[in-house]
Amino acid sequence: MSTLRPLVILLLFAGFAFAQQNPPARPTPKLEAIAETKLLMQGLAQANFKGLERLLENRPQENQAWIFARGQALLIGETANLLMLRPPQKQGQEAWFERSIGLRNQAISLAQLIANKDYDRSKASLVALANSCNRCHQQFRVNVQIAPFADLEPGRRTE
Ligand code: HEC
Repeated sequence: MSTLRPLVILLLFAGFAFAQQNPPARPTPKLEAIAETKLLMQGLAQANFKGLERLLENRPQENQAWIFARGQALLIGETANLLMLRPPQKQGQEAWFERSIGLRNQAISLAQLIANKDYDRSKASLVALANSCNRCHQQFRVNVQIAPFADLEPGRRTE
């Protein structure tokens, strides 16, 4: 080991000198859409929406469930941010941004109500969230209707 030490030091200095001569190009952060919108819908919007539906079907008893639900609402809010990177190419961009902002705002207020453990208003807010999903689907002629608490088995329905 001790015979290697001078070599290591030399290499460190060489690296330092190299870095001095070639300062790394400063990367410009630029957001880019990578996944298809459909994948975001399935993996983020729908997955977290379903999770919220399950967690809010009945008043959560565990603190952990509230924390988890808040996280899912915030992830839907972040999904709205990602949607803003994917406006339609030709027309309807303004409407797309409006619908995305609508989704984000709705997700933020849901997360806030969940953080306050306000069960009744959280549930109502999840219904309002579904409306903002549907508003975009209708506007862009996506034949997908998000119906909160609808596809739970009848015996388990709370309404
Ligand atoms: C800003 C517009 C917009 C919002 C808001 C939006 N969606 Fe979508 N959604 C789309 C578009 C566009 C598609 C069609 C994607 C495709 O097939 O390429 C889609 C498709 C879907 C699909 C079908 C995916 C499949 O398997 O084909 C589901 C499920 C879905 N959305 C769920 C949701 C949920 C849940 C929310 C709200 C939490 C939501 N969406 C909010 C635009 C939106």
